[in-house]
Amino acid sequence: MTPTALTTSELGATGLKITRVGFGAWAIGGGGYEGGWGPQDDEDSIAAIRHALALGVNWIDTAAHYGFGHSERVIGRALAGVEPRPYVFTKGGLPEGPGRTKTRSLRRDSLLREVEGSRERLGVETIDLYQIHWPVPEEEIEEGWSTLAELKERGVVRHIGVSNFNARQLRRAQAIAPVETLQPPYSLIDRRIEVELLPVAEREGIGIIVYSPMASGLLSGAMTRERIAALPADDWRRRAEELREPQLTRNLELVERLRQVAARHDTTPGAVAVAWTLRNPAVNGAIAGFRRPEQVDPIVAAANLTLDKHDIATILRRK
Ligand SMILES: NC(=O)c1ccc[n+]([C@@H]2O[C@H](COP(=O)([O-])OP(=O)(O)OC[C@H]3O[C@@H](n4cnc5c(N)ncnc54)[C@H](OP(=O)(O)O)[C@@H]3O)[C@@H](O)[C@H]2O)c1
Repeated sequence: MTPTALTTSELGATGLKITRVGFGAWAIGGGGYEGGWGPQDDEDSIAAIRHALALGVNWIDTAAHYGFGHSERVIGRALAGVEPRPYVFTKGGLPEGPGRTKTRSLRRDSLLREVEGSRERLGVETIDLYQIHWPVPEEEIEEGWSTLAELKERGVVRHIGVSNFNARQLRRAQAIAPVETLQPPYSLIDRRIEVELLPVAEREGIGIIVYSPMASGLLSGAMTRERIAALPADDWRRRAEELREPQLTRNLELVERLRQVAARHDTTPGAVAVAWTLRNPAVNGAIAGFRRPEQVDPIVAAANLTLDKHDIATILRRK
């Protein structure tokens, strides 16, 4: 694949032209905390980022919460001296508490501290997109969103968005300042946003980047019962409902149908899962997580994979 081959999309009204698949940097935050992914080799992470950029991927999504700054620090290392650098999107609102635990604050002073930490770790002067990670505590949404509007106004960040907001919370933010982007979960096993959020966001011209398009690796084709049983103790997926019965059997059957479709297109189940999210006209980009360089090619290929009616019928077939 050549760098110019990836298709792009206008991210809402931001003016950013993003590749349809972006690099998700949660897993490269590593393990050792509640949201951790087990041990991760930073050199693998850096190689994966550089490989994705070499293929033409032009944005990275991270958060201060991922490894409590570790993901951002690794991205900073990977991007040192890279010109032109990709767009860097990060998030705040889950500052670190004692003993590597997550706290939740959308207070102005807390977000101002967080954004400074992110800039420093990422090594960027201006963050391209700053997002509220979760609408929690709910009563602080207005203070948090006003703070992001202020950061944009001051030029500390270029664009502002929200993640994990529902339509009602989105409207609350919109009453203060325009929400430029939305980052919800979306995959074949989590289609909740199709009912209300996607139509509302599309109508309002909000850019949409969806997360966990492969259900955090479950739909990649590489997840088996044996692998699930052997996941490291500090991989959060050990506690995930989707990887437990009765859902697991159903989800692995879905992977087999993705495999059939993948065979038709000479690609992988994971790429088909990602391409399925991109089929929705409201979705601008899918954020796919990578931990090693060899994982990147088969999934980035999803940016250019078009599924037909026959493929969709196979994927959605019920017993
Ligand atoms: N805003 C939020 O609250 C939120 C929440 C979740 C995620 N996100 C964002 O969305 C991004 C993506 O979500 P995600 O990381 O949960 O899930 P994902 O993209 O659905 O799955 C990523 C995982 O799939 C596996 N994988 C990737 N390529 C593969 C390949 N070619 N073959 C086999 N396995 C492969 C890797 O894990 P293994 O190799 O370990 O299986 C990888 O970490 C995150 O990195 C983050 O930026 C945001």
